[in-house]
Amino acid sequence: MNKSKITIAVDGYAACGKSTLAKALAKVLNYVYVDSGAMYRAVTLYFLDNNIDIQDAQMIDSAIGEIDIHFEIIDGKNHTFLNGKNVEKEIRTLRVSDFVSPVATISAVRRALVKLQQEMGSKGGIAMDGRDIGTVVFKDAELKLFLTASIEERSRRRMLEWESKGMMEGINKEEVAENLKKRDHIDSTRKDSPLCKAEDAIVIDNSNLTPEEQLSYSLDLAKKIIEKKLTGVVKEL
Ligand code: CDP
Repeated sequence: MNKSKITIAVDGYAACGKSTLAKALAKVLNYVYVDSGAMYRAVTLYFLDNNIDIQDAQMIDSAIGEIDIHFEIIDGKNHTFLNGKNVEKEIRTLRVSDFVSPVATISAVRRALVKLQQEMGSKGGIAMDGRDIGTVVFKDAELKLFLTASIEERSRRRMLEWESKGMMEGINKEEVAENLKKRDHIDSTRKDSPLCKAEDAIVIDNSNLTPEEQLSYSLDLAKKIIEKKLTGVVKEL
């Protein structure tokens, strides 16, 4: 464990800029970045492609045993690999987005992924984004951020993102917003590790913030915590 490096948990609603922030923090601090949502999406893609019945516990258990997920940085960008295949683009489609939240309610899936996530962060120096990072995966994270933004703004951003990747064909604005709302509902109401703010998390409503403003605010918080860890001197957050 590196003494100066902290663990940063970024949680929040769908498409509210969690990965943009966690990625940027990791880059500036030279930390590892992990997109935990990509892991749930990769499992979902496997379930869809292999017709896994999500009511069948035995089928789920053996499927989980068949799944290997890892990340690789290609041209400076994070890519998700499922059983050796680059699935970065496929896991972002509406097909996967529509099925990921029901899959993420399954405790056996969560147990397996949380274990992997905790291993990835065991040395500290990590920024991970998701839904249960500050409440379950890294309960002791030194910095916990909880992001939120209006549904209009989040839908607009997700649409722009999909448009820029040529992924909006055959999909309308309403479907994008519907998917975000539906996922937020399932994620917040599930029994196992529901999406909620950790008691000690700092809320950032970024509806009217640029990515740079959100980064500079969060980086300030991170630097104060790192300094305190190194010197024992507490500066007001
Ligand atoms: O990027 P976006 O906000 O659209 O979602 P994501 O972070 O890729 O997560 C996709 C889905 O995975 C979420 O809607 C949750 O159902 C699930 N998830 C989860 O349950 N726990 C996490 N730590 C991360 C994602």
